[in-house]
Amino acid sequence: MPPPTLLLYFEDESALAFKLADAASLALACVERHVFPDGEIKLRLPASLPSRVVVLRSLHHPNAKLVELLLSARTAHALGAEHLTLVAPYMAYMRQDVAFAPGEAVSQKIIGRHLADLFDAVITVDPHLHRVSTLQEAVPAKQAIALTAAPLLADFVHSQCANALLIGPDEESEQWITAAARQHGLDHGVCRKTRHGDRQVDIRLPDVKVTDRNVVLLDDIASSGHTLAQAARLLLQAGARRVDVAVTHALFSQDALEVVRSAGVGRIWSTDGVPHTSNSVSIAPLVAEALRRL
Ligand code: R5P
Repeated sequence: MPPPTLLLYFEDESALAFKLADAASLALACVERHVFPDGEIKLRLPASLPSRVVVLRSLHHPNAKLVELLLSARTAHALGAEHLTLVAPYMAYMRQDVAFAPGEAVSQKIIGRHLADLFDAVITVDPHLHRVSTLQEAVPAKQAIALTAAPLLADFVHSQCANALLIGPDEESEQWITAAARQHGLDHGVCRKTRHGDRQVDIRLPDVKVTDRNVVLLDDIASSGHTLAQAARLLLQAGARRVDVAVTHALFSQDALEVVRSAGVGRIWSTDGVPHTSNSVSIAPLVAEALRRL
């Protein structure tokens, strides 16, 4: 019998870690984490490690976590790990994929390279890839696997809301809307979005009849919440009976939940890739299957 693969997790992500360990038959150990008064982090891993180690760390609030990944990956190697996989359900720093103005850091390239230097394999879910077409281009690890939660969200939406009209709030959501709608033969449409700032977006509804429909807005990320809020407002003004929301990554920064709710949104659902009160769908089986394929 080969020694079991060990899943290393951090306490704030224990809910998904337990489900993933169960679904993928992995041994499990928590990384002890101490934060000094000045903000430095000290980590402690199990003193001896098997040759294959998986680190679970979703990269919402990414800055401190990138340091955690640096410390844990280098320490895991020093303690005997030979093959390291990062499972980062939410992959941060993917938006800035070009320098939009002279002198801007191309964060996607820099962070992607950094992670590829630390890990042999990287698995993520619905990464925000816009101008590059594969995760491998953004994170050039030996194996870079991008999974999609759209079919899982589609199953859940279908179980909660009969005959939902699926709407994507912007052009980029088309890929997830198409995959999700196909799964259950649902009506669907995609809005056009113009972003004017972090919290200012203009949205144009698609040419789809929404009157008296139960609409579900489906997207990869809710961050400030303004994209979903603006789309929901327009849908309700156009006569939608109700608007619910399903997202892969429930970042919901600062007052985002309030922003979305005050736009008239009813139910809010998300996957457990980012821990949040809206978590309704587990990505554990999806990630477990990808780990088996490695
Ligand atoms: C962007 O294109 C993404 O798909 C999301 O729509 C966006 O990140 C949501 O951001 P916010 O919640 O801040 O409007």
